[in-house]
Amino acid sequence: MAKGANNRESHGIKIAVFISGSGTNMAAILYASRLADAPLEIVLVASNIADADGLKLAELEGIPTFVHSHKGHSRTDHDAAMEAAAKDAGAQFLVLAGYMRILSDEFVRRWEGRILNIHPSLLPKYKGLDTFARAIEAGDNHAGASVHVVTPELDAGEVLAQVRVTIAPGDTPETLGARVKLAEHQLYPRAVADYVSRGTDPDFLYAKVRELALTLPETHERESHGSPGFRVGTEKTGKFFAHFSQQHHGSEHIAVLVKTGSMDELLHLVETQPDTYYKPAYYGASGWIGIILNNANVDWDHVAQWLGRSWRSVAPVRLTKLHDIADMF
Ligand code: GAR
Repeated sequence: MAKGANNRESHGIKIAVFISGSGTNMAAILYASRLADAPLEIVLVASNIADADGLKLAELEGIPTFVHSHKGHSRTDHDAAMEAAAKDAGAQFLVLAGYMRILSDEFVRRWEGRILNIHPSLLPKYKGLDTFARAIEAGDNHAGASVHVVTPELDAGEVLAQVRVTIAPGDTPETLGARVKLAEHQLYPRAVADYVSRGTDPDFLYAKVRELALTLPETHERESHGSPGFRVGTEKTGKFFAHFSQQHHGSEHIAVLVKTGSMDELLHLVETQPDTYYKPAYYGASGWIGIILNNANVDWDHVAQWLGRSWRSVAPVRLTKLHDIADMF
């Protein structure tokens, strides 16, 4: 159990922050999370270094902390302990803030798309260490910081946001690094908040569904009862295979509606996986099921599979035949 864990009232998306040092970026995120309308809360600060200064600040502010030294443990075992603590705390996202450990590939894959990092350079420049010395040495005009999604390859995931910092004549790695820190403290809280809340942002979810639906063969978009819908076939004779539903008919869900095979299947899914599926008003009666999208753990591959299946159930035979042939290769 993490030190200091208690029954604090929950408000917002839960993140765990991993640190190894002073934790000033963690502090920036923490204080930003206490502003009105902040979308997230820090539920745990975890570290591989027992006397990391950031831990003291977190404790002072009443945030649960967890320490597990990496010394004498395999990478997998150490990662497993950190992961268990984050999960116990209910974390939906992991935020690395000066966490000077490389995470194992398996760990990163388990949290795919849900780990962020801040790196003190304008990526893709200067991955790894000594970024300020390398930027000065190269005669660059600017250094900076980047926030990126963590993937198994070091400092190589999608860059979400960057801030530039001018390099002054006579800058040393220390003087430059101090200004980059100031910039990081502005950048990271905003980038984390934007990223973790996009899962509840209707525009983001709609764009994602649209992209997946329209990559299927011979599809087009058409509004239906005031909501976006996606059809397969010609403009004239096409049929709907998906509807995007944004809190329609009083539902609290943002969802994509797709065709199930039968009412039995629909009811079974809704009953056994109520966090993923629901029976939408009106559409439910004719076999459409709602896949809930405004939840932090949406599995987009799963959504794509459902769209494909729903497409197949209404697509003209000439199209499904072609698809079957393509699937064989
Ligand atoms: C930050 O400058 C961050 O960009 C860097 O460590 C510092 C942590 O400071 N991260 C890396 O170099 C990761 N490769 P903080 O503990 O005061 O937030």
